[in-house]
Amino acid sequence: MKTRVIIDTDPGQDDALAILLALSADAVLDVAGVTTVAGNVEVAQTSVNALRICQLAARGEIPVYCGCAQPILRPLHTAEFICGPDGLAGMDLAPPRQAAQAEHAVSFLIRELRDSDVNLTICALGPLTNIALALLQAPDVKAKIDRLVIMGGARDLGNITAAAEFNFFVDPHAAAVVFNAGLPITLCPLNVTYQAVATLARLKDFDPRGAVGGPIVSMLMRERPGGAALGGDAGHPMHDPCVIAWLLWPELFEGRDCHVVIETAEGPTVGRSTIDWWARSGLPTNAHVIGTLDADAMFARIAQSVGLLDAAPFRQAKALS
Ligand code: RIB
Ligand code: CA
Repeated sequence: MKTRVIIDTDPGQDDALAILLALSADAVLDVAGVTTVAGNVEVAQTSVNALRICQLAARGEIPVYCGCAQPILRPLHTAEFICGPDGLAGMDLAPPRQAAQAEHAVSFLIRELRDSDVNLTICALGPLTNIALALLQAPDVKAKIDRLVIMGGARDLGNITAAAEFNFFVDPHAAAVVFNAGLPITLCPLNVTYQAVATLARLKDFDPRGAVGGPIVSMLMRERPGGAALGGDAGHPMHDPCVIAWLLWPELFEGRDCHVVIETAEGPTVGRSTIDWWARSGLPTNAHVIGTLDADAMFARIAQSVGLLDAAPFRQAKALS
């Protein structure tokens, strides 16, 4: 039985690898659609990028829905200083032949959840604006969500401010809505995703000559802006692939159920996720928070899986299907 998923994303280089991993694992994951949100770059660009990534994977049939251009209340902050002006620095992908769907991402989320004959898992790789608005507009869809698997938050230091991780900093109000929705959540915060740095050793299993491996290696061999100070090892931290990898290979991860609360008040801690790792608050847990992963094993499996996208028969079959 495949897991039917919706990927909500702001590509973004790590989003790109996460989407490619999900599309390569089509024996396990049934991707109902990709919804885009403003985050790493503006939403028009995240939508073009999602189309380019699906096209790279020879999966042009995957529908892409453009979502919210702004957070619920706060001004948009983007991250071109990290991911480059187009959001996919180093991949050099062709322009998309497909266009995004006319339907808004929030409308698609609600329609797909209501109409699907199976429950869905939502993979959240960017600010949670689309997902929060879908939950507020149509609370009935909660009954059709098996789980939200989210990259976001920080048990320790933030990455966009000392206190906050980027996705939750961009839209803390959306994050608060999601964590208060009473839904099953698995959370991959920075303390675990900074264990997933794309070091040279971990890149060796990707084929730089491959149609898909080439752009991945080219992207991840780029000098990492901001240096290796954040997260230790030299290389790009692959935050978002941890979400898809957890769905595919949960045995590579360890975590615990925690109470998580998001700071929405303006000030130096806005967007902060307070993760009660030691259960000091006595408050009910609302997320399974990942603490460790076997990063070497994860990268080896990602390389093997996305390598399937390089295989001509696979690409040929997908292009014709
Ligand atoms: O803080 C890292 C997260 O913010 C990742 O999802 C990255 O793609 C950006 O969206
Ligand atoms: Ca992202």
